[in-house]
Amino acid sequence: MSSLPLRNTTARWRALDRRHHLSPFTDYQELKRGEAGSRIITRAEGVHLYDSEGAELLDGMAGLWCVNVGYGRKELAEAAYKQLLELPYYNTFFKTATPPAVELAERLAGLMPEKLNMVFYGSSGSESNDTVVRLARHYWKLEGRPEKQHFISRTYAYHGSTMASASLGGMTPMQEGFGLPLPGFHHVMPPYWYDFGGDLTPEEFGKKAAQAIEDKILDIGPEKVAAFIGEPIMGAGGVIVPPEGYWAEVQRICRKHDVLLVVDEVICGFGRTGHWFGSQLYGIEPDMMTMAKGITSGYLPLSAVGVSDRISEALLREGGEFAHGYTYSGHPAACAVALANLDVMEREGLVERTREETGPYLQRRLRETLEEHPLVGEVRGTGLIAAVELVKDKASRTHWEKIGRVGTICRDHCFNNNVVIRAVRDAMVLSPPLVITREEIDEIVARLERCIDATARDLGVM
Ligand SMILES: Cc1ncc(COP(=O)(O)O)c(C=O)c1O
Repeated sequence: MSSLPLRNTTARWRALDRRHHLSPFTDYQELKRGEAGSRIITRAEGVHLYDSEGAELLDGMAGLWCVNVGYGRKELAEAAYKQLLELPYYNTFFKTATPPAVELAERLAGLMPEKLNMVFYGSSGSESNDTVVRLARHYWKLEGRPEKQHFISRTYAYHGSTMASASLGGMTPMQEGFGLPLPGFHHVMPPYWYDFGGDLTPEEFGKKAAQAIEDKILDIGPEKVAAFIGEPIMGAGGVIVPPEGYWAEVQRICRKHDVLLVVDEVICGFGRTGHWFGSQLYGIEPDMMTMAKGITSGYLPLSAVGVSDRISEALLREGGEFAHGYTYSGHPAACAVALANLDVMEREGLVERTREETGPYLQRRLRETLEEHPLVGEVRGTGLIAAVELVKDKASRTHWEKIGRVGTICRDHCFNNNVVIRAVRDAMVLSPPLVITREEIDEIVARLERCIDATARDLGVM
């Protein structure tokens, strides 16, 4: 097909990418027309990526919020290699299992909140959220309440890209024109004080945002609501940190109306917030919990739904097949990598280090460097997840016209200055590998400051 004689050069890879590769969340026309084409990442080590031209990038995003133990871990590669030789694949359907799948299930049961003791595997966060939808409906049928079919989640939420997980999500561009959300999926406001809090204190606004869930439950009818799902801290929605007391109130409301509480830990899980799970940070006791990304630090695709005793006991008591599963549920090599990943995290104390050392350091450095900047409205976050909100007017919390434009300018400056920091609307979001050092944090913050300065100059405000 292609008349591209050069092998393994940037030009060749870019040409192949243009001609044959449709990458996710991409404007293909823009990419095709652009001079530059895709940046080709060829290798990585620690917190650094290297592109095909030899440039070194600081990865402030841990890939897509997932490479928690950093790049280049031989131990994880060796675990995969060993398992692939021993048993590269076998399914977990029809009364079979494999040692890595069950060993990992036990390890996860030991780490998850107390009442979660069983797991159901998939290969992606989207799949695990689809599993939640089916398992919640299955559970309520077993309980003799099949009319409990509806789900409540929040606008700005990201729960994945399949039809059901994108319905749980609250991102309009993913829904409009796609026939989504599917029937039975409802959305309420996120606990995003900066944008929606008005004159209320964060705590007052947190109560109001939780009340919106109760109002929606009453509107639909509690007898029809299966579950509420939310991330402890909304990641891809813009690192929205809920006000104090929000989750306690959400939990109270779900219990009061007998609505299952599902926590999406795809980003917050595995140390990101300085706890194994964001649920532990906020004292949430979920009925189900979805995990992916950091479960293997992204080295191989794997996800899991943690299932509480309440649900697993109903499955055992009532019997009947749960007609759901994936070819790669419990993939042995992915589970072996996850076990090696947990070994590294525990041995190196990465969760504790995030909680006690690097997390507070990142939060402090971001605040002391950027809070006074004319373009910065708010710095928020906890552990190794953070956002820097870029605004037009700090005092009135007013955004720039055409939301997302300023964030994109700043993101492009970051990328061109060899630091990967993503923009969500006009918030610059960070989620570096948990192995990041203080010196590397200083470097990220310094580069981000330079890029925000450059953005301010572009906008004529500096
Ligand atoms: C909170 C959350 N849930 C689910 C997903 C979907 O995961 P995946 O892309 O592995 O399907 C993501 C992905 O970013 C996520 O951030």
